[in-house]
Amino acid sequence: MKILISDKTHESCARKFREAGFEVDQKPGLSPEERRAIIQDYHGLVVRSATKVTADLMEAAKNLKVVGRAGTGLDNVDIPAATAKGIVVMNTPGQNSNAAAELAVTMIFALSRQLYRACESLKACRWEKKALEGREVMGKTLGVVGFGNIGRIVGELGRGIKMRLLAYDPYLNAEQIRGFGAEPAPLEDLLAQADYVTIHVPKSKETTSLFNAETIAKMKDGSYLINCARGGIVDEDALYEALVSGKLAGAALDVFSVEPPGEHKLLKLDNFICTPHLGASTFEAQVNVAVAVAEQMIKYLQEGVPVHAVNA
Ligand code: NAD
Ligand code: MLT
Repeated sequence: MKILISDKTHESCARKFREAGFEVDQKPGLSPEERRAIIQDYHGLVVRSATKVTADLMEAAKNLKVVGRAGTGLDNVDIPAATAKGIVVMNTPGQNSNAAAELAVTMIFALSRQLYRACESLKACRWEKKALEGREVMGKTLGVVGFGNIGRIVGELGRGIKMRLLAYDPYLNAEQIRGFGAEPAPLEDLLAQADYVTIHVPKSKETTSLFNAETIAKMKDGSYLINCARGGIVDEDALYEALVSGKLAGAALDVFSVEPPGEHKLLKLDNFICTPHLGASTFEAQVNVAVAVAEQMIKYLQEGVPVHAVNA
């Protein structure tokens, strides 16, 4: 059987497949048309977030049995279309959670101490000690929106640095949230109280623009917003207005509604910091997801056992 790895993954992914007797082609960076032209040769497709697994691609995928996402978010895969074609879709939950959580906490500290501005100005030979007074996070309130694998690790790290922890997740009951060490809060209460709001929900119809002008207006004055989940969960125009007006003291995005964002107006603001979708980009996480996705897909293709399948 043949596997197409269509986004960049750690070499251990291809190695695992080959050791199990599969033929593997690694072709990151193909255009949708190029991918469509070859997809009929493959039984398994490995993607990260760049490849869009559309209904059109699956229409041409006559032999495809399984799509494996080396990571968490499945918003780049048309799951109903896959289900209709009998194609199993699986991801690797938890395997890159620590990496994404550490980046979110990095953002909290970087915003609080104006790390980017401090470094940039010193490298430009300016000594802006007076202008760069920061804030401490100890004792402040951290609001986690989406209390799944990543949100809980962020919460644990937040408690470790002596923050008060609020969590909003409508799919968990209050007891479960308390069990994971946070105070459950309705979204409005969390927004009103949190000094730092960090987003860890999947992208869905329900979460697209969850942070819009109206939601942001409910946030505490002078608070910070961090999104290391998915682009488009935060309305970027509304965020821009809130940063310019001073409603928010700062914001950090790892993800954008269009990636790369190009000449985006947010990039010009001093109180805005960003990274190019690096949440899962650690050596450890990339090995974890590469190995996990290969092992899961091999198990499905050889034994028919669907592990972490979202539609089987
Ligand atoms: P998860 O499924 O473990 O947790 C998501 C949580 O969000 C769940 O507990 C769910 O109940 C909750 N949720 C769903 N809808 C909600 C809503 N409307 N309001 C509040 N909570 C809601 O997923 P995870 O592993 O924690 O990952 C979360 C997201 O982070 C992924 O879906 C992915 O998009 C993103 N991610 C980004 C990177 C990156 O590189 N920046 C890396 C990994 C994951
Ligand atoms: C994810 O959802 O796992 C992330 O977007 C990680 C990635 O593949 O870059």
